[in-house]
Amino acid sequence: MRVAIIGAGYVGLVTGTGLASRGYDVSLADIDAQKVAMINQSRAPFHEAGLEPLLQKLVGKNLRATVETNKAVTTADVVFICVQTYCQDDGAIDLTHIKQAVTSVGKALKNREGHSLVIIKSTVIPGTTEKVLLPLLEKTSGKKEGEDFRIAVNPEFLREGRAVEDFLNPDRIVIGELENDSGDVLCQLYQDFNAPVLRVDLMTAEMIKYASNVFLATKISFINEIGNICKKLGIDTYKVAQGMSLDSRISPHFLSAGIGFGGSCLPKDTKALVSAAQEWGYQPSLLQSVIKVNDEQPLRLVEVAANSVRELSQRKVAVLGLAFKPGTDDMRDAPAIKIINELLRRGALVTAYDPVAMDNARGIFGKQIEYASNAEDAVSDAELVFIVTEWTEFNNPALYRGKKVFCGRRVFSPGQISNSDCEGVCW
Ligand code: UDX
Repeated sequence: MRVAIIGAGYVGLVTGTGLASRGYDVSLADIDAQKVAMINQSRAPFHEAGLEPLLQKLVGKNLRATVETNKAVTTADVVFICVQTYCQDDGAIDLTHIKQAVTSVGKALKNREGHSLVIIKSTVIPGTTEKVLLPLLEKTSGKKEGEDFRIAVNPEFLREGRAVEDFLNPDRIVIGELENDSGDVLCQLYQDFNAPVLRVDLMTAEMIKYASNVFLATKISFINEIGNICKKLGIDTYKVAQGMSLDSRISPHFLSAGIGFGGSCLPKDTKALVSAAQEWGYQPSLLQSVIKVNDEQPLRLVEVAANSVRELSQRKVAVLGLAFKPGTDDMRDAPAIKIINELLRRGALVTAYDPVAMDNARGIFGKQIEYASNAEDAVSDAELVFIVTEWTEFNNPALYRGKKVFCGRRVFSPGQISNSDCEGVCW
């Protein structure tokens, strides 16, 4: 089976590389010529564990990248659309990029002999595939679903930093399809994956993706709210979470309190579902609170520091960790952005360090802050240290001797560093 992937970002590149590692012939199409060139040189355009070794093994064999969407689509049996969907200022989903991608796939399908299956992997609000993308595909291709091509929805559940592993060993495979079993070919494609397959209609598949991400976001805001209450009482939130998670109905996952969720999915998807629900005439007050708690959580760390040392103006502050979580260089919606902006607003002098996200940080903060080349350099001159991403190299109490540390993520176990030297955002 020949596969085309439209959009070689996190989802597209990992999906394409994963399918190529399973023996499929894969063409990755992207409009970014620089990215395409990098992939064809077996270099990953972003930091993702395990990706580059696979590229080195597969590029030049059954995996390649191209700027020619038309060529990739006309030679493929299965076309995955994996472009990023963005958020407008009001939180509503912005379909501009996916509509462009669907249009170019439609135009290519015009010249395609025989059947192909088009799969929407990008996250879209329930109803979008059937009401917006399918009509657009039929219009631009001049062809009919069911007769000339098929359509399906196949949401991704990949965690950045573990995306390759997640793709190859999924918890479940969700296939959204029309009543004509349009997902049959997709089931065949995944037949060697050892995971339960759930076949549902298009809209249900789209909603499963949102409900999953928004549930994870809710768990995080929930434990952060419990943490904010625990902080007032001097209770260790992590002990509370441990006690909760011994109940098998609760599970230990996504109960790590801290400065909240960032990244390209949880913030955007929660806002998009709130916005869509309002448009459909429902006020999702729980989800609105999830966003509110998360928006405030990074600022709480600055507040904790300001309460402890009174004045942040002209204080030298080291910020350790910039990526939205360890294992990635991604800074999209990273809590570090809010924390650094608030520190700057209060007049602090910031030096920042992250093992892999420095280039992205330079693009965001420019000359407003200083950049260190390692953790030691970042803290050497600082009075105060903010730990913002839990990279393991920051679990080194010796690094912080004589400094006052404010932890946004639980890096130290109890007793590893004295409470008077280190204060957590909600523990
Ligand atoms: C998420 C979903 O997990 C994944 O299934 C989906 O496909 C894409 O979105 P990702 O954005 O890579 O994946 O990050 P994830 O590991 O879910 O973490 C998101 C954010 O929540 C991070 O900022 C992380 O630090 C934070 N987090 C996570 C917490 O604050 N506490 C937790 O207990 C877990």
